[in-house]
Amino acid sequence: MEFRYKRVVFLTGAGISAESGVRTFRDGQGLWENHKVEEVASPLGFKRNPALVWKFYSMRRMQANDVQPNPAHIALADTLHALGKAGARALLITQNVDTLHERAFGALPNKDFIDVHGTLSRSRCTKCNKVFSDRWAYFDGQQHVIAHHCDNLWSHPALPNLLTTPRRDPSGLPLSPCCSDLLRPDIVWFGEKPQGVERAIDQLTSCDLFVSIGTSGNVYPAAGFVTVARKAGAHTVSINLEPPENSAAFHEHLNGLASEKVADFLKKI
Ligand code: OAD
Repeated sequence: MEFRYKRVVFLTGAGISAESGVRTFRDGQGLWENHKVEEVASPLGFKRNPALVWKFYSMRRMQANDVQPNPAHIALADTLHALGKAGARALLITQNVDTLHERAFGALPNKDFIDVHGTLSRSRCTKCNKVFSDRWAYFDGQQHVIAHHCDNLWSHPALPNLLTTPRRDPSGLPLSPCCSDLLRPDIVWFGEKPQGVERAIDQLTSCDLFVSIGTSGNVYPAAGFVTVARKAGAHTVSINLEPPENSAAFHEHLNGLASEKVADFLKKI
């Protein structure tokens, strides 16, 4: 397969998973549900009420476990694979934590991507920051203690630290095997540093095509990636239901459902 572009960067946000049934952040019934963001997605919120935070992320793990990648995730996975095979350099950067890109890669050998906001399928020790592959839901919607394994949540087979049966404190909170201290979701919370940004910038500064899919373009640094790519001379494309907040930085806007627009567009690159 021949491609016009040789150095491609894709950025995805919640909109690419909307048609799988994952709520986006800024729709009417956004993902934060009835919670204040700072209660469930900040280091201070975790310090104040770790059980509430673990209830929230346990519910999200169970929701992600119940949904499937949609045609947009699959088209993207296939294109990344084909670009690699054709000798092009392609990188996927996602702000999503739902593991649907990983599941769309399936058996494809190229699973290289950056999850700048972390992922639901990892936890880490609050003391030493050691990262674990963790697909357990620890609390139900009422904050009752449960131990539900989310089998469908993708976790990297190469990540050695798999939590098989995590230890819990008397209130049911998970403890790290390394330090016996609290585990926390390996999710980037407000006020924390996104993951893998240096590597992302490295590829953005030399890409010839940048495609943003299903993101409202108002959370940085990801919202600024288009500007970096454009400065590097890349053609910049947004695929979204509506023009994103950073729309001025894009050469091309394809407004519509990701499940339809992504596959169509990828045929032309
Ligand atoms: P948002 O909820 O802010 O934006 C989702 C975008 O997807 C919106 O612009 C929608 O119009 C669009 N959209 C919805 N359904 C779509 C569909 N079927 N096809 C195409 N587009 C669709 O989500 P993000 O931009 O991902 O950060 O949010 C960025 C970050 O803000 C998140 O990663 C999260 C949040 O705070 C953290 O948790 C750190």
